[in-house]
Amino acid sequence: MKDILFKTYQISGRKAPNRFAAQPMETNCAGPGGAAGDMAVNRYNALAEGNWGIVFLEATSVTESHVARSNGLVLSRKNLDGFKKLVDSFKSIDEKALLIVQLTHSGRLSGPPLTKVKAYEDEESDVPVLTEKELQEVLNRHLEAAGLAHEAGFDGVDVKTCHGYLGTELLRPLNQRKDTFGGPVENRARLISSVINAAVRNFPGFIVGTRMSVYEGMRGGCGTSGPGEILENLEDVKRIAGIFVEAGAHFLNISGGVPTHNARLLRPAKNEDFCRLSQFRYARQFKEWFPDTTIIGSTYTTGDGSSLDYARENISKGYTDFAGFGRQSLADTRFPGKIKDEREPIQWCTLCGRCSRLLAKDVNVYCESYHADNPYA
Ligand SMILES: Cc1cc2nc3c(=O)[nH]c(=O)nc-3n(C[C@H](O)[C@H](O)[C@H](O)COP(=O)(O)O)c2cc1C
Repeated sequence: MKDILFKTYQISGRKAPNRFAAQPMETNCAGPGGAAGDMAVNRYNALAEGNWGIVFLEATSVTESHVARSNGLVLSRKNLDGFKKLVDSFKSIDEKALLIVQLTHSGRLSGPPLTKVKAYEDEESDVPVLTEKELQEVLNRHLEAAGLAHEAGFDGVDVKTCHGYLGTELLRPLNQRKDTFGGPVENRARLISSVINAAVRNFPGFIVGTRMSVYEGMRGGCGTSGPGEILENLEDVKRIAGIFVEAGAHFLNISGGVPTHNARLLRPAKNEDFCRLSQFRYARQFKEWFPDTTIIGSTYTTGDGSSLDYARENISKGYTDFAGFGRQSLADTRFPGKIKDEREPIQWCTLCGRCSRLLAKDVNVYCESYHADNPYA
């Protein structure tokens, strides 16, 4: 019987060759001004050799002014040629895998302190709150970047609403701004749903969706019922996801946690299966609520073959459509191809946490368990 992991999947009129998704993984690999240079091309060429179903291009900023890392990618008109080259190079190696770029604005997680901005007033008093006009400008930047992504030849965009960046902040019950971007769910969802809707309408066949932190584990965060609540209650975030689906989103990439409050939920370490199982439960819940929307599940990196057992079980039971691998895609870029051919040994992620530490140090990220030096430099 055919392995369910290698069953094709239709999304927005396109076909993914299998159910392996390489999740967006920031590698801090850009050239000056956020350009997609040789290091970025080399990294995604390596993934193109891996037989993935979907490859997400790491968090890529819609503006040069608010980037999380010194060498974070920026999708701007000025950088377009580099992104075109990256896509062409990827597609010349693997024309079947779907290549989707994750668009982001880093908000209060932006790099040098002076570039930090936030969506709502709170105790971080040295960080300015974006005005309504500035948020409209952020919306415009996302629209422009979605257009550039289409022009560059990407198969789609992921409008990021996870892990504490600006898109996430806007969705939180904590966002009680008094203008059109805060308060009721429709307002909190407005910026992202407008981008999704415009991208779906303007570019038929383009794949559009969002990666959400559906429960952040912080007071007033996504997945709670109000600004003063910390316990999980997914009703609010379900309504927001419903607005995205209504706007035309083809996929929801379900994640959880936020590095500042709940990093373990976001990237479970060894023996933290409860976090991983919670993530699987979230994906199952959203699949149940939105059966016609493609669901991508997170945290499939377990460090061994149990990741494949989980993936097969969750996909065959209809709990998710794709199994998303983050750290495993860094440890072994050719992971799905190796599973298919059963010839070469797999480089299992050791869950050592060194990739996260490299990111925190703001240097190039790669898998130190298998490479003495950055293989993409
Ligand atoms: C070094 C590093 C970089 C990451 N970069 C991104 C990113 O750009 N966008 C994103 O949505 N998630 C990012 N994540 C989160 C991963 O995509 C993934 O959700 C997380 O590692 C858990 O999945 P896993 O258990 O399969 O690794 C990153 C995680 C790590 C460790």
